[in-house]
Amino acid sequence: MSDVDVLHTPLSVGPVELSHRVAVSPMCMYASVDGHATDFHLVHLGRFALGGAALTMVEATAVEPQGRISHHDLGLWSDDHIPGLQRIAGFLAAHGSVPGIQLSHAGRRASVREPWRAGAPLDETDAAAGLPPWPVEGPSALPAGPGWPIPAAMDIGDIRRSIERWRDAAARAVAAGFRVIELHGAHGYLLHEFLSPIANQRTDAYGGTTEGRMRYPLEVVAAVREAIGPETALAYRLSAVDGAVGGLDLDDTAAFAARLQDAGVDLIDVSSGGISTDRSLDTRIRRGFAFHADFSHRIRESVDIPVATVGLVVEPEQAQELVTRADADLVLLGRSVLDDPNWPHHARVALGDDEFAEWDVRYGHALAPRARLIGKLAATGESPMSRFE
Ligand SMILES: Cc1cc2nc3c(=O)[nH]c(=O)nc-3n(C[C@H](O)[C@H](O)[C@H](O)COP(=O)(O)O)c2cc1C
Repeated sequence: MSDVDVLHTPLSVGPVELSHRVAVSPMCMYASVDGHATDFHLVHLGRFALGGAALTMVEATAVEPQGRISHHDLGLWSDDHIPGLQRIAGFLAAHGSVPGIQLSHAGRRASVREPWRAGAPLDETDAAAGLPPWPVEGPSALPAGPGWPIPAAMDIGDIRRSIERWRDAAARAVAAGFRVIELHGAHGYLLHEFLSPIANQRTDAYGGTTEGRMRYPLEVVAAVREAIGPETALAYRLSAVDGAVGGLDLDDTAAFAARLQDAGVDLIDVSSGGISTDRSLDTRIRRGFAFHADFSHRIRESVDIPVATVGLVVEPEQAQELVTRADADLVLLGRSVLDDPNWPHHARVALGDDEFAEWDVRYGHALAPRARLIGKLAATGESPMSRFE
């Protein structure tokens, strides 16, 4: 174990300074109406700022309506979406968490139900309930798996149009006050589909070779980089491995990460999988504690920009070791902060920092004397259950 609390040292992500290395991973909440943020988002995300996250990343936010995963995704395809997100970004920044947002296009994996309804493609039963499926698109006319819709293969006009949409959505995100813009290039969504030979079997300039398959994501990166300007950080989430027969492996994505760096990306966020729902192709990515740490470690060796890891990080000491041992520069938390939004604050205590110095004063001024009183009572041998003994 390291004696130095490296988890609580600052990190520069391009032009943006994070006060420490614990951040909130993007998580779809399926709580939007026509792409608009709701009160749910403000409360849900705002709580992570109060809980001490250095960076809070808003969930996958669609750059165009057909790029939504479900009917209930956030969107930024119109200026009307800005005010709701601006309120959230403002709250996060005012409470010490850098506001970030993930921009997304679900490609051939769009038009599905919420995960608690198995995340299956929408069909006529959903249409009868007022939630019709919509036509999906992708690099090639290949479905994500058996029973999934066949996407329309995007032509050059579609590709140009979609790059414009990424650019416009990114500009709106900056207008809304976000300081970190993450592109969702993982989990089998559109950017990942262009990169992977499983979903991209094009024979034109946007497919065929490795270079061809990289073209669309790199063009999106270039367009977004230009749109967001030098004061905003650009992050890219990738799937380090496809985890599917015939798919991308770690060497492929390490090389791609270096290209992302050259194209102006400031942070690589390492996830995995999602390219296919066909179980017969699945090569199984083991889900243990910190299950992307080996991937992020390797990708970190191929770039000179910060790398984030994510996946079943549950203990402060575990997060700290990930940074100490160069598995990652930044640790993202998903379900751990759903379980405990104060996880980042609690991690400081666990790692020996001043207990309440970093809390919002509205909480800290009340919790500090409470902790002292509990300590005094414990010293006298009194416990919360003493009166019942
Ligand atoms: C409810 C939920 C929604 C998610 N939505 C997204 C998303 O919008 N974008 C994304 O890249 N990953 C998404 N993920 C994946 C998480 O960001 C994270 O990578 C994953 O949950 C593993 O981290 P964890 O073990 O800390 O939860 C989601 C995960 C959960 C649990």
